[in-house]
Amino acid sequence: MLTSAILSDLDAISDIHMDSITGSVSVLMGKKFVKNLYQTLFNDDNSTILVYKENNELIGFITYTTDFRKTNEEIKTKFSLSQMLIFLLKVTTNIHTMKLFIQQFLFHLYFPNHRIQGYIFIFTLAIKSRYRKQGIGTKLIKHIKIISRKSHSSIFLDTAGSNQKAINFYQKAGFHQVFNAFDNIGFLYQP
Ligand SMILES: CC(C)(COP(=O)(O)OP(=O)(O)OC[C@H]1O[C@@H](n2cnc3c(N)ncnc32)[C@H](O)[C@@H]1OP(=O)(O)O)[C@@H](O)C(=O)NCCC(=O)NCCS
Repeated sequence: MLTSAILSDLDAISDIHMDSITGSVSVLMGKKFVKNLYQTLFNDDNSTILVYKENNELIGFITYTTDFRKTNEEIKTKFSLSQMLIFLLKVTTNIHTMKLFIQQFLFHLYFPNHRIQGYIFIFTLAIKSRYRKQGIGTKLIKHIKIISRKSHSSIFLDTAGSNQKAINFYQKAGFHQVFNAFDNIGFLYQP
C-alpha cells in the first residue's frame, strides 16, 4: 500500500536510510541527524514523503520537493551551530567523506541549486534490502511520474556515479542522463 508518511514512520524511514544510502555524508552524521532531516521534510509544505507498507511494515519510501529552493532553505535553518561543527569535524577527519564532500561541492558549482528550481526534485528513494528487485521502487517512482504529468513539471534527481543499481533503475524508469560530473549523475524525466 502506497501512502503519505505519518510522524511515527520517521524512525523506520531513518533506519532504511541508514542501511541503504551507505557512504553518504548523512549516514556518517548518524541516525539522529538523518531523522532530523526527515522531520524537516515532513514539516515542509513543499515536500512529500511517500511510504510503501505491507502488513503494517514500512518497506520503502521516496521523498521529493516541488520547490527545491524553499526546502533547501528550510533544511539549512535546522542546522544548529553544534551540528555544523560536528559536520565539519566528520568531513575533515574522514578521507572518504572529505572526497565525497569536495565532489558534492564541485558538483554544486557545476550544477548550482537554481538550475533545479522548477523541477520536482527527488531527494531520496530506498527500499529495505530484502524487498528489493520486486518492483516496489518502480511503484513509488510511477506515482511521482503521474504527479509530474499532471503538473507538467519534469523530475530531476542526482545519484552517485558508483551506484550502478540506481542508474539502471532510473534508466529503466524512463529517466535520461543529463550530465555526469564529479561522480554525480543527473537524471531528468520529462512527462
Ligand atoms: C535503487 C532501488 C530504489 C531500486 O528499487 P527496487 O524496488 O529494488 O527496484 P525494482 O524492483 O522496481 O527494479 C526496477 C528495475 O531497476 C533495475 N534494478 C533494480 N535493482 C537492480 C540491481 N540490483 N541491479 C541491476 N539493476 C537493478 C532493473 O532494471 C529493474 O528491472 P528488472 O527487475 O526488470 O530487471 C533499491 O535498489 C534501493 O533501495 N537501493 C538502495 C538505495 C539507493 O541506492 N537509492 C537510490 C539513490 S537515492
